[in-house]
Amino acid sequence: MQPTLDVDTATAGTTPADFPEPAPLASHGPARIIAMCNQKGGVGKTTTTINLGAALAEYGRRVLLVDFDPQGAASAGLGINANELEATIYTALMAPRFDVHDIVHETSVPGLNLVPANIDLSAAEVQLVNEVAREQALARVLRGVSEEYDVILVDCQPSLGLLTVNALTAAHGVIVPLETEFFALRGVALLLETIEKVRDRLNPRLRTDGILATMFDGRTLHAREVLARVREAFGEDVFTTVIGRTIKFPDASVATEPITTYAPSHPGALAYRTLARELVSRGDVA
Ligand SMILES: Nc1ncnc2c1ncn2[C@@H]1O[C@H](COP(=O)(O)OP(=O)(O)O)[C@@H](O)[C@H]1O
Ligand SMILES: [Mg+2]
Repeated sequence: MQPTLDVDTATAGTTPADFPEPAPLASHGPARIIAMCNQKGGVGKTTTTINLGAALAEYGRRVLLVDFDPQGAASAGLGINANELEATIYTALMAPRFDVHDIVHETSVPGLNLVPANIDLSAAEVQLVNEVAREQALARVLRGVSEEYDVILVDCQPSLGLLTVNALTAAHGVIVPLETEFFALRGVALLLETIEKVRDRLNPRLRTDGILATMFDGRTLHAREVLARVREAFGEDVFTTVIGRTIKFPDASVATEPITTYAPSHPGALAYRTLARELVSRGDVA
């Protein structure tokens, strides 16, 4: 029988105490923009965007989440019904003079704001193709707010199309969530190639902040083997912090809250606080 390791299941042994408590900031901005990227769906991009954002906000960082997926899961997960909204990220992308402040929504977490998306955004992929500087549309939109935030997290859709290229062009860094499952590594080479191309052609400052192992179930030998292989393949590029698999994440989405407020002392909440501390201690976030 496998041992039941509750805390290890969720954090793979890493806790917030492993990284120093982030010092309060005396002033805010300009933001470091981080794209949450993996063309595979269901790997934890949206969950990481919401919960890392909430954890950083708890540490006093001003955080803006940008829902950049026409499915609108980040918006829905924070209780914003984007289908009822007239103006979303799509509006700002398409109208050059649109004031992005008009689409910034507050969330239930102090310091955590969100720019929503809905299905309209799926048209942008096609419509942007004929625009001048089509890869820079999101960067242009975010310039209007980046001075006011410490970090902007962009929740990408599961594809490597023009929207994702826009996110990579606007970003300073990329986080690649990877489900700790057998096929996890499939497609990662193509993703890293795309990041490389964007760096070469559009955005020289872009770097891979790290690969984040998600949905890790430490009770199974399989998950432990996959994690070992991911570390073998990507070494230092893999975050020390590992996000465990727990039903509390989908539960928190249903409650339209981050896990950090829904179940503040649950190992899943601790895991995202640990990730927030790891990012701050590495200088990836102020
Ligand atoms: N660590 C986790 N443990 C268990 N379920 C998770 C975890 N992270 C995400 N989920 C769930 O898995 C599903 C896909 O996650 P999501 O973050 O939406 O992935 P993506 O944005 O990459 O498609 C969602 O239902 C989410 O609640
Ligand atoms: Mg998603």
